[in-house]
This record gives sequence, C-alpha cells and structure tokens, in this order.
Amino acid sequence: MSVRPADLGDVDAIVDLELVAFPLDPWSEPLVAEGVAGRVPTTSYLVAERGSVFVGHAAVSVVQEIAELQRIATVTTARRTGVASALLAAVHDHAAACGAERLLLEVRDDNEAALAFYAGAGFAEIARRPRYYRDGTDAVVLQRFVRMGE
Ligand SMILES: CC(C)(COP(=O)(O)OP(=O)(O)OC[C@H]1O[C@@H](n2cnc3c(N)ncnc32)[C@H](O)[C@@H]1OP(=O)(O)O)[C@@H](O)C(=O)NCCC(=O)NCCS
Repeated sequence: MSVRPADLGDVDAIVDLELVAFPLDPWSEPLVAEGVAGRVPTTSYLVAERGSVFVGHAAVSVVQEIAELQRIATVTTARRTGVASALLAAVHDHAAACGAERLLLEVRDDNEAALAFYAGAGFAEIARRPRYYRDGTDAVVLQRFVRMGE
C-alpha cells in the first residue's frame, strides 16, 4: 500500500467515499476539489492506494501547533486491512513536518469502529461536546501528541 498527496484525479473517488463513509455530512465535490487543488491553505488531502486502486483518504488541517484530522475513511471492501493506519501514519508525518505538537479530532460517540481505531492508535479523550451533531449525538474530542520520528 502507498499513501500520497491527493490530486485532482482523485476527487471523484474521494467524493464517492465521502457519501458512503459520512452519509450524514458528506463533503461536496466543489469543497473537495478546492481542497485538493490547494486553495484551502491549511488543509492537505492524502490518498491511500493498493496497486493503483484507491482505498481511502484523509484530510488534515495544520494551524501552528495544532493539527486537526478532519477526515479519514477506508473503502468498505478494504476495511480492517491497515488502510486507515497507513493514512494516519502519513498524517502524523505531515503534522510533524509542519511543526504541529498535537493531533486532534472529533468523532461521533456512536462510531464504535472509529473509537476502537483511535484508541488502538494511542488517542486519548480530552473533551466531549454534548449534542454536537445535527442528530443530537455527542462529539468526543480525542488527542494524540505528535513527536518526530514516531
Ligand atoms: C474507522 C475506519 C477509518 C477504520 O479504517 P480501517 O482501514 O478499517 O482501519 P485499520 O484496518 O487500519 O484498523 C486498525 C485497527 O483499528 C481497530 N479497528 C478498526 N476498525 C475497527 C472496527 N470496525 N471494530 C473494532 N476495531 C476496529 C482494530 O484494532 C484494527 O486492527 P485489526 O484489524 O488488526 O484488529 C473505517 O472503519 C471507516 O472508514 N469508517 C467510516 C468513516 C469514519 O467513521 N471515519 C472516522 C471519522 S472520525
């Protein structure tokens, strides 16, 4: 598997996966295209491929010492094969290279797969946002420290 910066040729695959992975709040084609084109200065998109087949994407925003993992998703047929782990490692390297000290994210309280994934990856809960999502679900705020060479 490989992870690389996304380019405009990846936009359709990213948008398709957004619809599957985040059905309540998918990112739109114009939003993704703008980000992939580099017109959102703080945000970077990464894609994972197996061979030349798209298997997942991540989006991370870095502002000074804080990196925020905004998106991470794996195509359904490739889950539990290490795709998100590889994306997260690349996100971590990017955050470290940008000088970030902490990697933060928000996850739905009912997203058991993601909570298990992040717990295994060493994230710790630092806050809760009650009824954060439109359907009333709480957000859990997780953090992991960014250290060079990890
Ligand atoms: C959460 C998600 C990104 C995980 O992606 P993935 O590529 O399947 O994750 P990995 O294969 O790298 O999993 C690494 C480890 O995380 C844990 N994990 C991942 N998915 C899990 C699940 N469904 N149940 C329990 N543990 C899980 C396991 O420990 C796993 O290791 P193992 O397979 O050897 O047991 C994926 O389920 C997904 O795309 N979900 C929809 C989008 C989403 O919710 N994103 C996060 C939003 S905050």
